[in-house]
Amino acid sequence: MKAIKFIIAALVLILIVVQFIPSGIPGNIPEDEKSIANDSLVAGPVLAQLRKSCFDCHSNQVNLPWYSKVAPSSWLLAGHIKEGRSYLNFSEWAAYSDREKIGLLGDIRDEVSAGKMPLKSYLLIHRDARIDTAEISAILKWTENASAVIME
Ligand code: HEC
Repeated sequence: MKAIKFIIAALVLILIVVQFIPSGIPGNIPEDEKSIANDSLVAGPVLAQLRKSCFDCHSNQVNLPWYSKVAPSSWLLAGHIKEGRSYLNFSEWAAYSDREKIGLLGDIRDEVSAGKMPLKSYLLIHRDARIDTAEISAILKWTENASAVIME
């Protein structure tokens, strides 16, 4: 019994101490003209879907849930956001070259059609971020149209 109490106390102490370690979640930056919101190649419904399903990891406008303030879940979140942004940042869309945009549109098409994005672990908690088949085809259609226009 004593040992168990000691272990629990130690765990609680560790949990308290780790709260003081900065999570490293990158801060939000207000949307500006670099955002995909200003891209004439993205239609309203698709943009709304991207905002809802992708922006939390792939933009500078992130909606942080309460557990983003609690370690160790905050570290997991920081990792997703940093990694997600490094691959694709919708807030920096206008800064990508045409070649990068075409590459990213292809990656988006691959990830979304394979059901790999949004991340499954994220959808477990964010049910409203799910995309149904109609929404998937709208996103896929956008990736194809946008690439075609850029390549013209
Ligand atoms: C919970 C966070 C999260 C959400 C939400 C999310 N992503 Fe990602 N995404 C990531 C992470 C992390 C990576 C890098 C690691 C990987 O590929 O799994 C990534 C990678 C990608 C890549 C690059 C894949 C590659 O390997 O080339 C694309 C494209 C992408 N995501 C598109 C999207 C789109 C489109 C959405 C919305 C429909 C979305 N993501 C939603 C976290 C997320």
